Amino acid sequence: MNEKNFIRNEMKERLSKLSKPYYEHYSYKIATNLYNHEDWQQSKVIGITVSKEPEVDTYQIIRKAWESGKEVVIPKCHPKKKALTFHKITKFSQLESVFYGLFEPIIEQTIEVKPENIDLLIVPGLAYTNEGFRLGFGGGYYDRYLPGYNGKTMALAFHFQVISQFDIEEHDIPVSKIITNNEVINTK
Ligand SMILES: Nc1ncnc2c1ncn2[C@@H]1O[C@H](COP(=O)(O)OP(=O)(O)O)[C@@H](O)[C@H]1O
Ligand SMILES: [Mg+2]
Repeated sequence: MNEKNFIRNEMKERLSKLSKPYYEHYSYKIATNLYNHEDWQQSKVIGITVSKEPEVDTYQIIRKAWESGKEVVIPKCHPKKKALTFHKITKFSQLESVFYGLFEPIIEQTIEVKPENIDLLIVPGLAYTNEGFRLGFGGGYYDRYLPGYNGKTMALAFHFQVISQFDIEEHDIPVSKIITNNEVINTK
């Protein structure tokens, strides 16, 4: 097993041990730290995934974005090309589960939003370094998407998902900030 997969498995194991009260406590702190951040406050269009437990909860963040007058765009995976497109949702009922048990936008009911129109992209992942390099779920979707995206990036993570190091490959693209339950890490 390569190092990336070893760490992916270790982190999935670690995440699976997070109790529901701590999952909620940390997710709420992360959300609060996000709302206090200028990148959130200044952004109108937010790109974000719909979380699947035990990923940091994003349902509360999506609701908050709507309540704050922001637009929410959600990724749709295109497995053949390993590509992502983002689609604006205005209600949770515009989601469906087709790929990997993830909730994704229903294409027919939502409008695609191009990368140049997204202000802040919240990139999902399993583990991060302090430099913002991320270990995703292994599809490389964001490593392919980010070269064509010039807006702000960040990741949301439980504090234990920030680890000292892992093997970074040439195609890996870092995020600019990591917001944890404890701190905001500026990576570059
Ligand atoms: N920009 C890219 N162009 C082509 N292949 C890529 C690109 N980015 C990633 N890949 C491929 O996608 C696969 C998964 O990438 P990896 O970085 O391990 O996943 P993740 O970023 O999801 O953790 C690798 O085989 C990698 O070679
Ligand atoms: Mg990668």
